[in-house]
Amino acid sequence: MINIKLTVDSVKPFVSEDQINNFQDKISAAHQALFEKTAAGNEFLGWVNLPSSIEESFLDELLAQAKTIAQKAEVYVVIGIGGSYLGARAVIEALQHHFSQMLTGKFNSVEGYAVPQIIYAGQNISEDYLVDLMQILEHKDYAVSVISKSGTTTEPALAFRLIKNHLEKKYGKAEAANRIIAITDEKRGALKTLADKEGYKTFVVPDDVGGRYSVLTPVGLLPIAIAGFDIKKLVTGAKEMEAFLKSNTSIETNPAMLYAAVRNALNFQGKLTEILVNYEPRLYFLSEWWKQLYGESEGKIGKGIFPASVSNTSDLHSMGQYIQEGPRTIFETVLSVENSHQTISIPRDDENLDGLNYLCNKSITEVNQAAEEATRQAHIDGGVPNLRISMPKINEENLGQLLYFFEFACGLSGYTLGVNPFDQPGVEAYKKNMFAILGKPSY
Ligand code: PA5
Repeated sequence: MINIKLTVDSVKPFVSEDQINNFQDKISAAHQALFEKTAAGNEFLGWVNLPSSIEESFLDELLAQAKTIAQKAEVYVVIGIGGSYLGARAVIEALQHHFSQMLTGKFNSVEGYAVPQIIYAGQNISEDYLVDLMQILEHKDYAVSVISKSGTTTEPALAFRLIKNHLEKKYGKAEAANRIIAITDEKRGALKTLADKEGYKTFVVPDDVGGRYSVLTPVGLLPIAIAGFDIKKLVTGAKEMEAFLKSNTSIETNPAMLYAAVRNALNFQGKLTEILVNYEPRLYFLSEWWKQLYGESEGKIGKGIFPASVSNTSDLHSMGQYIQEGPRTIFETVLSVENSHQTISIPRDDENLDGLNYLCNKSITEVNQAAEEATRQAHIDGGVPNLRISMPKINEENLGQLLYFFEFACGLSGYTLGVNPFDQPGVEAYKKNMFAILGKPSY
């Protein structure tokens, strides 16, 4: 069953049905090109059939690996950047306890064994971050995954050099090698060479899957499994969405096609920024993952919608003013979660000095949903078109559906916009300058 629903009623005051339907032909062509692998970037379309091609036995292998790690490590460091980091973090943070780093024991365990705390490195070049990290690792039993498709990205390579050195001093070279897993290209790259030489356990990032589409490869699946979440349900969700989007080929029946059409129609009307809005703090990194997916896929040859995000209601007290009354070049896509996992009742207070007794019979979720609806109305009145993507609950299956929905819609939207959504030539510009500044040989 498909649990992710797209509602576009609140864009109708801004774009007509005809303006949306005008994109049907281009989007149908893009739909066909994605499944038949016939358009630009087709060498990176391995993600399209990825969910349906994942074998159960492969997931069992990842789960067995996760269990082995859990038995020897209380902390697990996931080293990676961009597409080699954001997918795992998006799913883990969407599912884990908000204060997981302060929990031990039953709150932090799966099937009777405790899972390690997941922490991240290689996603910045901050000396203070790395020194703080080494201080923490000094006193923890830990293991790491180093994840880099190219195997040559500076940020994770730098973090890994420090951590490898620390691991070898702490455990000795042989045991350090047992505590390192490399996730990289099957044949190429410095990380592959190093992993082979040192005898690390390795998992492969498939050649035909680019970084930002790699969450359902070991890049995302292994850290998610190590964190104790159900990667089988995650993949099942993605598989359900893959089948659904494959068999529905019109804007009326295929929500990814509709999303791509509406985005392009709004962009054509001068809407240059899309804000992904959440009302659940655990979706913060889902937005970060989405921003990379859409920004790196669409922002090229002078085109592309700028992907931004806000976390409400927090950001209603900061960015809300700009969204309500700033330049009318933005639209919003709200990630709407219908049910919480837990409930807490609002206590009655006899004195009612804070004036909140009127909320006593309501749940916190009702209050949150009232904020969402009130904001939707206010923003539409203020000239901000509003799309809504809803899910009944945040769980593995629904996240799997959502991830694949966004990936597929991104491919459709990029092709419709007239760009190759699967390359990222602009990412190289800063690297060349940085290497020249730092004196890297041959730069
Ligand atoms: O989506 C992408 O291709 C990028 O964001 C990469 O994932 C990121 O630059 C990290 O690259 P690598 O996995 O080669 O270290």
